[in-house]
Amino acid sequence: MHAIGVDIGGTKIAVGVVDEHGRIVAKTKRKTKPQDPASIDQAIAEAVGELAADHEFHAVGLAAAGFVSSDQEHVLFAPNIAWRDYPLAERVSSLIGRDDIAVVVENDANAAGWAEFAFGAAREARNMALLTIGTGLGAALVVDGTLVRGAFGFAAELGHLRVVPGGHPCGCGLRGCWEQYASGSALTREARRAAVEREVRAAALLELAGGDAAAVTGPMVTEAAIAGDELGIELLAELGRWIGEGSASLAAALDPELFVIGGGVIAAGDLLLGPAREAYEENLPARGHRPIVPIVAAQMGNDAGIVGAADLARLAAQA
Ligand code: BGC
Ligand code: NA
Ligand code: ZN
Repeated sequence: MHAIGVDIGGTKIAVGVVDEHGRIVAKTKRKTKPQDPASIDQAIAEAVGELAADHEFHAVGLAAAGFVSSDQEHVLFAPNIAWRDYPLAERVSSLIGRDDIAVVVENDANAAGWAEFAFGAAREARNMALLTIGTGLGAALVVDGTLVRGAFGFAAELGHLRVVPGGHPCGCGLRGCWEQYASGSALTREARRAAVEREVRAAALLELAGGDAAAVTGPMVTEAAIAGDELGIELLAELGRWIGEGSASLAAALDPELFVIGGGVIAAGDLLLGPAREAYEENLPARGHRPIVPIVAAQMGNDAGIVGAADLARLAAQA
């Protein structure tokens, strides 16, 4: 049976029809406004309607970057999108207007993590942690083959573990959250800061940004670093270290077989993962007396959210 997965990003949604093997058989997308939840509902319903013309399915999974309620109907809070106690499943369902199609909401990183667990980098594992490095830091935890949801649906909100007391303010209302250090937004912030404060070292980055420090982006850092730029390499290493240090603490809670790291910045490969592995080893509790598990790149790329949301929705509809 096929199912639909919807990856709801900051400015666009990507929608795909997915088969039982995690393969996308059709795909479409729409633009949205992150500050206007109704525009997101509308875009999803349109895209689903388009795909329904040629495909049969009975489940739609919506991957949302926020705190999803345990009934998988509401987004209760999102640090980077304007959802507050939002009945996403019901809104989308009534716009689709078909009661033979079940709509379920899933945390975006849980969806991506499930895709890696079922079909990607962790398909041989039973216990894994996925971290996805984007606007925020998303996470998914799979323990003994089961996705961990917690008592109220909010397990694996690891982006909001506090790593720096009194540190950078976060969209969740706290300070010093891990996602303020280990995310694409953190990389961009640090790169822009370096472009202002260390103009000479930042020459390559500034050139990519047309001379404008405020126009520097994460992908520019990766591009510069791959070309051998020292500042770019240093910025990626710093991000990698934050990922590795936090993962070492996470091992204390979870003891996974492997960590999978996703998000656009893994295009940097070992420039990111090398420092992450080093910091992981250095900070691992009981180091020297336990295995050093692999920290690997995600394999499902940009499709992870679509594939995972569809597969989880299909499993929920079958249950
Ligand atoms: C949100 C998570 C989300 C992650 C990645 C965090 O800020 O709290 O719900 O999974 O960003 O999008
Ligand atoms: Na999650
Ligand atoms: Zn936070």
